[in-house]
Amino acid sequence: MFITFEGPEGSGKTTQIPLLVDWLCAQGYEVELTREPGGTDIGNQIRDVLHDPVNAAMDATAEILLYSADRAQHVAQLIRPALAAGRVVISDRYYDSTLAYQGYGRGLDLGMLCAITAFATGGLKPDLTLYLDIAPEEGLRRRQAGGEEWNRLDAETLDFHRRVQAGYMALMAQEPERWAVIDAARSVEEVQEEIRARVGTRLEQVMRNA
Ligand code: TMP
Repeated sequence: MFITFEGPEGSGKTTQIPLLVDWLCAQGYEVELTREPGGTDIGNQIRDVLHDPVNAAMDATAEILLYSADRAQHVAQLIRPALAAGRVVISDRYYDSTLAYQGYGRGLDLGMLCAITAFATGGLKPDLTLYLDIAPEEGLRRRQAGGEEWNRLDAETLDFHRRVQAGYMALMAQEPERWAVIDAARSVEEVQEEIRARVGTRLEQVMRNA
C-alpha cells in the first residue's frame, strides 16, 4: 500500500507522519517512510538546490524538471522496490505537490505537468492521499513560530499559497475516492486519531482486494 501526505506549509505533516508509522509498526506492518523532494541520496542533493533561498532566480520550467528528476529517482530506487517487498510506503509529498504548487500556484500548463509526471513515475499512483487541511495564513504562521526550515517556496506570497490550496481542492474534486481530507487545525491527538481511522479503513479495503 502506497500512502502520501499533502498539505500546505505548517499543516503538521512532520509531526503526524511518525505517529502513524509507530501505530502501523505496532500492528506488525513493515513501513518505509520517505519524502519528496529527497528520499534518496541523489534526491537530497536535488532538494538542496530546490530549497535554497539563494536560488530565487530559478526558472519555473527548471523547477518542475528538478522536482520530477527527484521523483523519478525516488520511484525507481525506493518506492517501487519497497512496495514489491510488501512494505507500506508513506511519502511526505508526491506528485500532487507538483500539480498544486507548480500547476495551480505558478500557473504552469497542467496537461504538460501531468505528462512529465507520468514519465517520471511510470504511472505509479498512491492508494490513499491524506490532505492535512489548514488555512495558508495559519500554516505559515505555525511554520515561522516553530522555527522550521524556511524554504524558497515558503517565501512566496500569500496569494501564491492561496492558489496552491485552491489547486489541492480542485485535485480532490477530480478523484475524491483517493483523498481523505483531515482538519489539521485541531489538537495533535485528534488529528492523529482521524488519520489512523482513515488509513485503517483503506488498509482493510486493499487487503480484501489483494
Ligand atoms: P516540505 O518538505 O517542508 O514539505 O517542503 C517541500 C516544499 O517543496 C513545499 O514548499 C512544497 C514544495 N514542492 C513543490 O513545490 N513541488 C513538488 O513537487 C514538491 C514535492 C514539493
